[in-house]
Amino acid sequence: MKYDRSFNFSAGPAMMPEEVLEEIRDEMLNYRGSGMCVMEMSHRSGVFQKIIDDAEQDLRDLMNIPDNYKVLFIQGGATLQFSMIPMNLMKNGKALYIETGAWSKKAIAEAKKVGQVEVISSKDKNYTYIPDCSDLDISEDTDYVYICENETIHGTTWQKLPNTKGHVLVADQSSMFLSRPCNVSDYGLIYAGVQKNVGPAGMVVVIIREDLIREDLENLPVYLQYKTHADSASLYNTPNCWAIYCCGKVFKHLKKLGGLEAMNKRNEEKAKILYDFLDGSEMFGGTVEKTVRSLMNVPFVTASKELDAEVVAATKAAGFDNLKGHKSVGGLRASIYNAMPKEGVEALVEFLKKFEQEHRG
Ligand SMILES: Cc1ncc(COP(=O)(O)O)c(C=O)c1O
Repeated sequence: MKYDRSFNFSAGPAMMPEEVLEEIRDEMLNYRGSGMCVMEMSHRSGVFQKIIDDAEQDLRDLMNIPDNYKVLFIQGGATLQFSMIPMNLMKNGKALYIETGAWSKKAIAEAKKVGQVEVISSKDKNYTYIPDCSDLDISEDTDYVYICENETIHGTTWQKLPNTKGHVLVADQSSMFLSRPCNVSDYGLIYAGVQKNVGPAGMVVVIIREDLIREDLENLPVYLQYKTHADSASLYNTPNCWAIYCCGKVFKHLKKLGGLEAMNKRNEEKAKILYDFLDGSEMFGGTVEKTVRSLMNVPFVTASKELDAEVVAATKAAGFDNLKGHKSVGGLRASIYNAMPKEGVEALVEFLKKFEQEHRG
């Protein structure tokens, strides 16, 4: 790769588009004649106001976000949302969570500190499938239904959203954000930590329907209220200016590439290369049900832990980074987000094919 960069299969922070990094490099010391780097710039300046306004508008264009939704850039990563969501949305103190892996499990643990949580889970098969949610038994006073739309560790994606029967749907899209078209009006709240498909870690994008922003939460710490961030257009305190700037660049880049339809097509092509190989291999195999396989995070294993470790070491030595699977699944995991070039996936598959041939002798 150019600049001697490696193919980085990390689950996050992950690869950024090279073109974007080059632009950032070129603007590093003097952002468009402002005399300073964006890192050095007041968040109250006109120059930064344009950066954040453009970032929001470009995201609205990409996702076709309706006018009755607010776009918020909040710090604390995706993890803070595990708490902010129940604190802000549990009016009746009740929610239904669908547990499909480690990240929804963490969100459930936080929600339980706030109210009553019903759980439907795929834990019985180590989260290798998505539970059937076409006819949920939801009580009238349930405030929302929560899903993690792509489980980064286990490698599953919702192909069809749950039937919430009119209740608010909340989705953690961290590891699939902007990877495919999304009908925002299907959700009450979408959030995504940006360090996988968009930008530097430490920030989350929250897209929230306006009527869910409550005015009656004076007792909640001010920073934890969505109202605070909405009323101040994400500028209540000093925001993560650098992340907003970098994300804005990626939003523009994705628009240039043809938007989310085009990203989906690219991502399907890339994932197919890897899944086709895994399906045909005698040494490697995917770990989840085929119908819910993620296009972003692809866990796979061999028949033994020792061989898994050998493959991980061999890939690392060959310049493929961060392929070790999460300890709860084992084996390997290739995270192939938007910015992973097709050549990276092709090179990995070629390497694994060769490894398999040589190993079989
Ligand atoms: C699906 C999902 N949700 C939440 C998180 C937590 O994100 P953060 O580290 O930004 O808090 C992650 C992190 O990897 C994730 O993959």
